[in-house]
Amino acid sequence: MLRFFPQKDKYIQEETEYSFDKNLAIPKHVAIIMDGNGRWAQNRRLPRVAGHKEGMETVKKVTKHASHLGIKVLTLYAFSTENWKRPEEEVNFLMQLPCDFFDAFVPDLIKENVRVNVMGYKEFLPAHTQDAVERAIDQTKDNTGMVLNFALNYGGRSEIVTAVQEVYQELVQTNGEASSIDEEMIAEHLMTGFLPKEMRDPELLIRTSGEERISNFLLWQIAYSELFFTNALWPDFNGELLETSIASYQHRDRRFGGVKIKEDEK
Ligand code: FPP
Repeated sequence: MLRFFPQKDKYIQEETEYSFDKNLAIPKHVAIIMDGNGRWAQNRRLPRVAGHKEGMETVKKVTKHASHLGIKVLTLYAFSTENWKRPEEEVNFLMQLPCDFFDAFVPDLIKENVRVNVMGYKEFLPAHTQDAVERAIDQTKDNTGMVLNFALNYGGRSEIVTAVQEVYQELVQTNGEASSIDEEMIAEHLMTGFLPKEMRDPELLIRTSGEERISNFLLWQIAYSELFFTNALWPDFNGELLETSIASYQHRDRRFGGVKIKEDEK
């Protein structure tokens, strides 16, 4: 168990049970709920948006680190379908962030061979955000390395509803039977359906800031994900903490509902 204690602007690691081992399994898909930007700013008597700006810098660092570790898909929860309830000024700032982020960072992403994807109800984003997103997707479409997958105006329940609606349409058009609907069919229609099958579900889900809940993120895809919660606020998260999260994952006993059979019992 890891505990971080705020000490001025730092988090100190009290106890590390495991250390990261690059020779052990690296999760193919890591998803992160980037929480705590507001508190990071408040702790410094800054406006909340200053926390989001710093959070954007963390995204850049963590993206590079994840790509260097050999992670294949990094899914980041940047804006939920519920985040529209925030003050207008903050929403406007959050909608400008992808523009600033991609303007500054796409050359680095190309250098790193990282491909951008954005999953979410993009049609409801302001035009300038949509343009920035589409440009980044297009500029990085030939990259063959890690997929940097932003969840933007994303909600897990809505995603499942949309998938079911699409499956229903398909059945109507093909006179299919309801009983022909299976998990594979639903998974194909989810927003992670563009990924190769073996990479759609994150093996590891990280949430920063000490909150221990899922907040409507990837509800279907995290059925068997390992969860890792850290008290570090998102702007304080970094490559070292990413490795710490993976170290914890590397020592989990993943059974997928089965039982672990010891070598001498096989
Ligand atoms: C949650 O912290 C954070 C968000 C809703 C925004 C996440 C956005 C970023 C990390 C910026 C990067 C985005 C892009 C597209 C590059 P919070 O504001 O809920 O924090 P609090 O719980 O402390 O108030």
